[in-house]
Formats: sequence, C-alpha cells, structure tokens
Amino acid sequence: MITLSKVSKKIGTRTLFEDVCVTFNPRRRYGLTGPNGAGKSTLLKILLGGEPSTSGSVKLPKKTGFLHQNIEEFRDFKLLDVVVMGNRTLWKAMSERDELYEQKMTDAIGMRLGDLEEIIAEEDGYSADSNAALLLSGIGIPLEMHEKQMFELPTDLQFRVLLCQALFGNPEALLLDEPTNHLDLESIGWLETFLLDYVGTLVVISHDRHFLNAITTDIADIDYETIIIYPGNYDDMLVTKTAVREKAEKENRSKEKRILQLRTVVAKFGAGTRASQMRSKVREIDRLKPAELKKSNIERPYVRFPSPETPSGQTVLRAKKIGKAYDTHQIIQNFSIEIERFEKIAVIGSNGMGKTTLLKMLAKKMLSDSGNIEWGHQVNMGYFPQDHSDLIEKSETISVFDWIKRALPEIYDQEIRSVLGKLLFSGDDAFKQVCRLSGGESARLILSTLMLGRHNTLVLDEPNNHLDLESVSALGHGLKEFRGTVILATHNRDLINQVATKTISLEKGGIVFFDGNLEEYLQGRE
Ligand SMILES: Nc1ncnc2c1ncn2[C@@H]1O[C@H](COP(=O)(O)OP(=O)(O)OP(=O)(O)O)[C@@H](O)[C@H]1O
Ligand SMILES: [Mg+2]
Repeated sequence: MITLSKVSKKIGTRTLFEDVCVTFNPRRRYGLTGPNGAGKSTLLKILLGGEPSTSGSVKLPKKTGFLHQNIEEFRDFKLLDVVVMGNRTLWKAMSERDELYEQKMTDAIGMRLGDLEEIIAEEDGYSADSNAALLLSGIGIPLEMHEKQMFELPTDLQFRVLLCQALFGNPEALLLDEPTNHLDLESIGWLETFLLDYVGTLVVISHDRHFLNAITTDIADIDYETIIIYPGNYDDMLVTKTAVREKAEKENRSKEKRILQLRTVVAKFGAGTRASQMRSKVREIDRLKPAELKKSNIERPYVRFPSPETPSGQTVLRAKKIGKAYDTHQIIQNFSIEIERFEKIAVIGSNGMGKTTLLKMLAKKMLSDSGNIEWGHQVNMGYFPQDHSDLIEKSETISVFDWIKRALPEIYDQEIRSVLGKLLFSGDDAFKQVCRLSGGESARLILSTLMLGRHNTLVLDEPNNHLDLESVSALGHGLKEFRGTVILATHNRDLINQVATKTISLEKGGIVFFDGNLEEYLQGRE
C-alpha cells in the first residue's frame, strides 16, 4: 500500500498538486496520467525520496521497485550490475566497498569496510549476482549475455533488464515511468501479460492509451492542481472526468444565474420597507458562492514546420547498397533507396531491427560499413534523435531559450520566443534549465529547433516517445502539412497513418517497401 498525506509540490510559482491525500492499494494497477510536465515523474521521485515534496508525507513499502524513464543512463553498465542496482542500499555499499579496496589501507578504511560488509550481508549481497541472473534468465535473457554491457543489447532487451532491476528483491510495490516508450507492439503485449500477473501495488505512468486500457484497474489523474483516482481504465476515466467537470461547471452557472437574480432583487428593495426580507436573500447569496474550479493543465501545442525558403532538388537522397554490422551481427545489409522530394516515409520494424541505425546512417550521424549515401542538391536536413540526450546536455547553466539561441544564432529572439510559445514554453518557462525538462518537454524543445531551422527535409527517430496525446496529434498534423520531405521512424500507427505516403518495414527476412495504407499492409501480412 502506498499512502500520500496532504502532499503538495510547488516549483517556483507553479503548483503541480496541492494537499493530495490518496491511497494506492495492493492487487490494483493504477495508471498515473496527465499531460507532459504535469508532474508525474516528479510524483514518483517524491515517493522514492529522490526529491522533496513542498509539504505532506508519503508512506510506502520498504521494498519498492522502480523502472527508470531513461534507458540511456545505464548504457555503460554490466547487465548483472544494472539489476543489482535495484537494491539501492546494497548497490551503494558494494560500490563504496570496491572503491575502498582500491585505496591504501588505513584503520579508518578498515573500520568502514567492516560496516559495509555487514550491510552487504544483511541485504543478501552474497547471492545478489545469482538472484539477478535468475531474474534475467526468467525474463528471456540468455546466460551468455549477462556479463555484457547494456549498450550491446537491442533496446527491448535493455528494457527487460531494467524491469528486472525494478523486480530485484521481490518488491511489494512497483513504480514504472513510461515503460512502453522504447517497445514495439510485440514487446508491449509481453509487458501487459507480465503486469497483469503482478500481485503487489502497481503504479504506471504512460501516454499510451491502448496500453493503459489493457492493464489498469484505476487511473490516478494529475489535473486541477490535485490527483484524483477514477475507477476503471483510461477511456472510463475520460468519460467520468468530463462528466464530473461538466456537472461542476453547470452547477456553477446556475448558481451564478441565481446570484444575479438575487442581487437584482436586493438592489431594488434592499433599502425599502422589505429590508428584513432582503437579509435572507443576502445570506442566500453568500451561501451560493460558486465553487472555485481550477484550470485544467491539458494544453495543445501548435506544431508547424514553415514552408522551406529553398526547396531541395528533385532527388533528396540516394543510398546504394549500404550495410552496417555491430561485431558479427549484421543489422543492415545491401540496402538501397532513392527518396524523392515531398515523400513522407515511415520506417517501421520491431525492436532491434535497425531503425535507429538506418536513420543515423542516412542522417550522416554514423558511418556505414559499406555502400554510399548521397544527399541531393540544396537539401537542408533537420534530425530528431531517438535519445534526446544526444542533443540536450545535462547542463545546469543553459536555459531553453539559450539552448536554441546557441543552436540557431542567426534567428531573431522574437521569432524564438514565438515558436517557444507555440510549443507551450511561454513566459518564464523559456528560461527553465534544460536539465530540468521532463521527457515530453525535451521532445518539444527539439521540435522547436526543427520548426525554426528552415529545413526542407526532416529525419525523425521516434519523435512521439514521451509526448502526450495532444502533442502527438499536433505533431502528426504538422508533419502532414509540411511542404518538404520526411523520414519518420515510429511504432505509432495513428501517426504513420496520418503522415506516411510510403513505408519501409524492417523485417527478419529483409527490408520491405510498400505504398500507402499501413493497416492494409499489416492485415495482409497477418
Ligand atoms: N528542479 C526543477 N526546476 C524547475 N522546474 C522543474 C524542476 N523539476 C521539474 N521541473 C518542472 O516540473 C514539471 C513536472 O516535471 P515532470 O518531469 O514531473 O513531468 P511529467 O509529468 O513526468 O512529464 P512527461 O510526461 O513529459 O514526462 C515540468 O514542467 C518540469 O520542467
Ligand atoms: Mg515524466
């Protein structure tokens, strides 16, 4: 059971939520929802003690597993270590011990080592590796991979490793931050089955409607500066939330109308012979005070990529027989393509099939092992990396506005402010530090440079990851209207159907090209 008592979180002048009292019960699966920047990740951090709340207190089981939002943080660690990190006390003690053994022995170090060994024994540290290996094997990661580093694995397997981390030590509660972001449809299906069997208290953040509908028993929604728990799945929540709001608004309207009537009467007769009768009317006016309805935090950004001043030549890109292997594993083989101006190409395929590798090579962010890639005449290409941290550094000194100014020094300040406003960084938000941005906010920041960059060609690697539903739909609209060429890797069917004129599917048997409708293609294949 997880309990929040009068929990508030304010950041600067902004209230994320105030005086929240909710309980999350075992054997129930809660979806934690709200638009980008609502405070979902912040709430999980508060629960885990990683960030202080402004006031109030939380209670949660001693053993609580947590799934990180950022796979990238762990790329240089060994799989087994990543799993063991799930027990934070143990991992801290083991790391400190290993460091101390590197140093010259002194009495003080010897004493400290004794303390650390005690903690490690208490936390079952001597069987940590074998317990971690059991979890990894159970989740489908073969023994020979356990000593590898994370970056050597395809994304879906890295994700499974992080899930093992969260499950290490049989947690009574499980907190997951956007688990479906990096997963293809098949892996999402696997995760759903897995979570439906979990018997502890599950709280999961997601912007994926299908996923939430499949697994949740309740939705905890962050809005109106509070958190409200609605029984049922995501779609049920939307219905109830709208109905509750409409009812409250209607009540307020009729109260306001009645108050207006009463005021007119009081103004007319208040001073005359009927003054005593009027006193009860005045009391009624006081009693009728309309409830204060907080503004909803749901906002829709405006995504438009302006028509390029210089269009590209007719042929945008020509790739001939390109190939790429990691170690002995051939990812892309003999791939050729010619892309014409105004084509909008979706790149689909399961995890690990090489979408990111292909896009990186096409965008010249990575060299191919063989073949050649030629960009056409006058092409001005903008690139959206799958991993935002490829572009946005963890800097405490640079603001959203300065970050754009640095990337695009020739653009006028007003133009930057205007695009930032469209992407919901208005007022002071333009001066937020980039390292503080939520996942969806950092995606919007990258989009803003693409909107300002006067590109005639866009290469986008899963730009919809982290974005809320409103933003994904705005992005789809923007890409559809864009008078240029688009290469877009994504698992999001709505987005593909909205944007793509052509699709490339990376499949086990090779790469398949087809025109037009994705649904028809997928049905044909099934
Ligand atoms: N230390 C900080 N200083 C300033 N702003 C902060 C700080 N930490 C978080 N924020 C802001 O608080 C808000 C909530 O952030 P949080 O990461 O919890 O959002 P989220 O609901 O998880 O969003 P997303 O769906 O995009 O992941 C964001 O607007 C974020 O920029
Ligand atoms: Mg978040």
